[in-house]
Amino acid sequence: MVEEQVNSKNMSQDSAQNQYDFILYGAYGYTGKLIAELAHKQGLTPLLAGRKEEPLSQLAARLNLPYETLGLDAPADLDRLLSKAPIVLHAAGPYSATAQPMVEACLRTHTHYVDITGEIEVFEWIATQSEPAKQAGVVLLPGAGFDVVPTDCLAAYVTSGLERPTHLDIVIKSLSSVSRGTALTAVENLGASSYCRVNGKLTSVDLAHTSRFVDFGKGQRLAASIPWGDIATAYQSTGVPNIVTYMQTSPRSYRMMRSAKSWRWLLKAKSVQKFMRKQVNKRITGPTEEVRETANSFVWAEARNASGASKTARLTTMEAYKLTALSSLEATQRISRGEVDAGFHTPATAFGADFILEFEGSIREDL
Ligand SMILES: NC(=O)c1ccc[n+]([C@@H]2O[C@H](COP(=O)([O-])OP(=O)(O)OC[C@H]3O[C@@H](n4cnc5c(N)ncnc54)[C@H](OP(=O)(O)O)[C@@H]3O)[C@@H](O)[C@H]2O)c1
Repeated sequence: MVEEQVNSKNMSQDSAQNQYDFILYGAYGYTGKLIAELAHKQGLTPLLAGRKEEPLSQLAARLNLPYETLGLDAPADLDRLLSKAPIVLHAAGPYSATAQPMVEACLRTHTHYVDITGEIEVFEWIATQSEPAKQAGVVLLPGAGFDVVPTDCLAAYVTSGLERPTHLDIVIKSLSSVSRGTALTAVENLGASSYCRVNGKLTSVDLAHTSRFVDFGKGQRLAASIPWGDIATAYQSTGVPNIVTYMQTSPRSYRMMRSAKSWRWLLKAKSVQKFMRKQVNKRITGPTEEVRETANSFVWAEARNASGASKTARLTTMEAYKLTALSSLEATQRISRGEVDAGFHTPATAFGADFILEFEGSIREDL
């Protein structure tokens, strides 16, 4: 009798959860829209969601897709929303504010979770939810966009076949232009600590605390250390205890980055943050379609071990935002097909080091 009741609850939950292919929260943001358009093109039916009625209803009408307006501050409404699909693709950030209510709702409603964050603290927190996620039968996959799919896959690749790697350096070539959300996340982190991983510990350091030279194919260029998401995720994927992430930069920008510590108090001031957010909202619109269709992104990684052996490779991919839409949607579909075990994952632990090679234009070269 009790068993029957449980089964019938699961069945009604299953049928409700299959109502839509997935829920796209943050659907009317720059990247959310790209994902919604791509899903529509692929014949999928996501339930579009977000906190503002007007932009959401306009997008839903244009794509002829269903939508629901709700904020992340109403747990009961969020649970009701999540009961309508097996998985949510969470595209609303900064994730320091948006990840926790959504992940908690996913655990309550047994809904798989995918996002496109690149925020180190967010990855670290979501990783702590791995056990509850396993118990709930839920996959948690943050970082399914440009940050960190290509870098995570390359990290897994350069560490594979190298005996007990101890050090990992990952370098990205700076993006041609960024979206409003990426810029707002960057403003939020202005004046905050940078990070690297030392002996397995997340360690706070100054921005550009170290530098190195790398060759993306046009000779050796300067790269300065920055806090990229792999400080958290590459540790989960590879177990390498010492990780530094870098961005290729000019000597002038490197000097400016190094001097940022002197300005930290100013960059963190509420008035400065408010001014910067206003400037971002006014001026930043994100890469144009032409840029998304023509630009490329570049990633380089090197793993080393205690006996001096190393493995180095670089990767060329399509433009970062186009890749983010494609890779996050692909990850969402694979997880809903049951291809990934429950618990916390990085892109490489979920789909392997070659996942990135499945996207048009990806080229990996051993160096
Ligand atoms: N991993 C990657 O490579 C990658 C690539 C692209 C984007 N991202 C990240 O993804 C996020 C979105 O980027 P975007 O370019 O699409 O930014 P965007 O155009 O600014 O859109 C952000 C979306 O999030 C919503 N949002 C923000 N805070 C919210 C909150 N507290 N509650 C509910 N909704 C909230 C916004 O709604 P309102 O307009 O109502 O505020 C908007 O719909 C950013 O965090 C960005 O850093 C990462």
